[in-house]
Amino acid sequence: MNVSNDKVLRIGMAGLGVVGQGVWKHLDSHRGPLEERLGARLELYCAAVRDPSRARAVEIRPDQFRRDPVEVATDAEVDLFCELMGGTDVALKATLAALEAGKMVVTANKALICEHGEAIFAAAARNDARLYFEASVAGGIPIIKALREGLVANRFPLIYGILNGTCNYILTRMEAERQGFETIVADARRLGYVEADEALDLDGWDAAHKAVILAYLAHGHWFSLDEMPVRGIREVTLDDMDWADRLGYRIKLVAMVRRDFKTDKVFCCVEPMLLRKDLVLAKVDGVYNGVSVLGDVVGESIYIGRGAGQDATASAVISDIVDAAIDRLHGVPAFMPTFVSGRVAFAPLDEVRRAYYLRLSVVDRPGVLAEVSTITARHGVSIESVLQTPGREEDRAHLVLTTHESSEKQVRDVVADLREDRAVLDPPLVLPMPDLNGR
Ligand code: HSE
Repeated sequence: MNVSNDKVLRIGMAGLGVVGQGVWKHLDSHRGPLEERLGARLELYCAAVRDPSRARAVEIRPDQFRRDPVEVATDAEVDLFCELMGGTDVALKATLAALEAGKMVVTANKALICEHGEAIFAAAARNDARLYFEASVAGGIPIIKALREGLVANRFPLIYGILNGTCNYILTRMEAERQGFETIVADARRLGYVEADEALDLDGWDAAHKAVILAYLAHGHWFSLDEMPVRGIREVTLDDMDWADRLGYRIKLVAMVRRDFKTDKVFCCVEPMLLRKDLVLAKVDGVYNGVSVLGDVVGESIYIGRGAGQDATASAVISDIVDAAIDRLHGVPAFMPTFVSGRVAFAPLDEVRRAYYLRLSVVDRPGVLAEVSTITARHGVSIESVLQTPGREEDRAHLVLTTHESSEKQVRDVVADLREDRAVLDPPLVLPMPDLNGR
């Protein structure tokens, strides 16, 4: 196909940090074949940055710099606004301004979509504008395309995955090098793997943003972070990893979206969980992400790839830019709307049933095990197995219980009582052990 000079897609960027420079660099290096296949030119027209004088690894002319993202978003010459600055304040203002101006918008900003998705999608619909956000979940893995296009025939009872590369990197290294969380996280910080706002990675919020987006794509409903259990990996110790190993499991930070199609209740959460070692996702290590999607027609499909970093994210952003160009050039009909079948609601805690791993540090004296089992029995929680090892200090023992399937509410009640018990020395750690083969 010939590249016609009058067919040009002008891209205005906001943010030229790690991801923005990656997009600029790879778009330049792959321009020839991309433009030839599109039959149009992709022009990096301008970029809004805070400090134009900063050293950058890409060539950009001084006249291409802008200061104000909203100015780029509303510039009449810009066809496509590419929001890569992050944050949810100016990014929201600029994204809405671009959509109100009828422009196509590409964003990698999961916090923005998660927190303001409803308003942003409404603005897009109102203005017949388009929003593309492949890079917002699982970096280079085209999971949004998979859910929205490739798997469109399906309903999704279960989606779960490792969606935060930093936590997966830390857990993997703790296990491989037999080091504690603090040692490895210090190294991860040094390598620049941990977000400036560390809670995003280490306390599970980044993965939760992504889970909310997947839940929306699968079930057409915006769940609020407030209703989801969200926990990170700070409490997981090397001892927990060893006990999990003895039980046949590995510990991973897992985001899960499970829907019961009989009740239309959806449960979303982000928690460290015990995954059986034979599961594919239990073997996804390092900075890699992995997502398992159970479709009622296709069965399980699994996606693994680099979930973060300049190149993986740029790959997803460029795929959105190309989709936007095709839409602009050929007037391709709008995306299939997200799957909606009636109203869905968040599952109440007494309906969320799983087996659990419960780690306790207790006083090593006669009768303590009986005290603990009296508490579990009081709340109807049945113990499946018990492991005990002496603690490092005298008179202290570690007790690891696994339970039969119990409700989240029962287990929370058990933990509340255990915290009151004088034989229990530290706050207990509870990790779900979801049955993923039996779904
Ligand atoms: N901090 C994120 C991660 C970056 O580690 O996965 C990509 O969202």
